[in-house]
Amino acid sequence: MLAYYDAWEQHTSEDAWATSWWEMSAQVGDRIAQLLGGEPGSVQVQPNASVALASVVSCFDFNSSTRNKIVTSALDFPSMQYVWAAQERVGARIEVVPSDDGIVIPTERIVDAIDDQTQLVALSHVSFRSSYRVDVEAIVERAQQHGALVLLDVYQSAGAMELKARAWEVDFLIGGTIKWLCGGPACGYLYVRPELQNELEPKLTGWVAHASPFDFAPPPMRYTDSVRRFAQGTPGIPGLYSVIPGLQIIAEVGVKAVRAESERRSEFIIDFALERGWKINSPRDVNQRGGSVMVYVDDGPAMVKRLAERSVFVDCRPGVGLRMSSHFFNTDEEVRAAMEILGELM
Ligand SMILES: Cc1ncc(COP(=O)(O)O)c(C=O)c1O
Repeated sequence: MLAYYDAWEQHTSEDAWATSWWEMSAQVGDRIAQLLGGEPGSVQVQPNASVALASVVSCFDFNSSTRNKIVTSALDFPSMQYVWAAQERVGARIEVVPSDDGIVIPTERIVDAIDDQTQLVALSHVSFRSSYRVDVEAIVERAQQHGALVLLDVYQSAGAMELKARAWEVDFLIGGTIKWLCGGPACGYLYVRPELQNELEPKLTGWVAHASPFDFAPPPMRYTDSVRRFAQGTPGIPGLYSVIPGLQIIAEVGVKAVRAESERRSEFIIDFALERGWKINSPRDVNQRGGSVMVYVDDGPAMVKRLAERSVFVDCRPGVGLRMSSHFFNTDEEVRAAMEILGELM
C-alpha cells in the first residue's frame, strides 16, 4: 500500500497509468491464474466475486433457448444465490440442489440434476458453511455429456489447496483474494477457459473490455480478443496493490505445502474435538473437505469474542458454529493452544 501511495505522490496520474497501472490488472490476473492451475491470459480481475458471477451470467440469454436451467446448491454463498434468483426475472430456471444436513450434498444428487436443458452448473468448490468440497471431476464429466458449462466458486479453496483449472476442463472459476490468498479488499477474479473466451459477449461490460479502449469509439461495442473482454471500467488500483504480496507468498510457499500442513492440523482439530464429545459440522473425509473445520458451539458470536480476547481468531457461521481455519503460517503449537483455550471456554 505504501508503494501505491508513493506512485500516487511521485507520478502524475497519467504517468502512473502509462508506466504500470494499465498492465497491473493483467499481471495480477496472471499471478492468480497460476494459483488456479490456469495459463497466463485466463484470468480477468473483477471488483469482487459477486460481480465476477454477474459478468458470466450476463453472457447468457435465458429467454431465447430451452437450455435455460442453472444447477446450484444449497451450500453456496448467499451472494451467489441472490444473483441466480434475480435471473429468474429474465427467464432462467434455477435448481438449487438441497443438502439434508446442511453439511454435505451427495455427488449423485448434483450429477442427477444436470440434464440437456442445463446451461450452467454453478457451485461452490468448497462451501463457506461447512467446508464441504464437491467432486469436480464427476460434475464436469456429467456436464460435458449434456453440453452444459461448469462454474466453480473457489473463494474458499484458492490458496488453500491445489486447483487444476486446465486439467479439470472447467469453464469458469470465480473468487476473491481476502481469504487463503492473504490479500486485501477488494479484488475478485474470473477465470474463463481460453477456448471459450472469444465466444462470449458479456452484457455487463465497459470501455476497458473494448478492442481499442483508447479510441473512445462510439458503439457498436467491439470486444477485445482476450480475457480483458470480461472487464468493465477503471480497475481498482489500490485493491490490486493490496493483493500482490499475498499472491507472491502463497506461490513461494506452494499450495501443495499449504494443503499438507492444513490436512495435518485439521485432523488434529477434529480428533481433539471428537475426543471431548464436541460436534464437527464439516465432512470427516479429507477428500471432501476444504481448509476449514467447523466446530459446533451453542452461541457462535459470543464464543468468537471470548476466543479473540485470548488471541485466538476464528469466525462463526449460523447453525454450524466456529469456522477454524489454520493457515501455513500457524504453528502446530498455536493450533494446540487454540484448541486448549477453546476447551477451557467450552
Ligand atoms: C464462497 C464465497 N463466495 C463468495 C464470497 C463473497 O464474494 P464477494 O464479496 O467478493 O462478492 C465469499 C465470501 O465470504 C465466499 O466465501
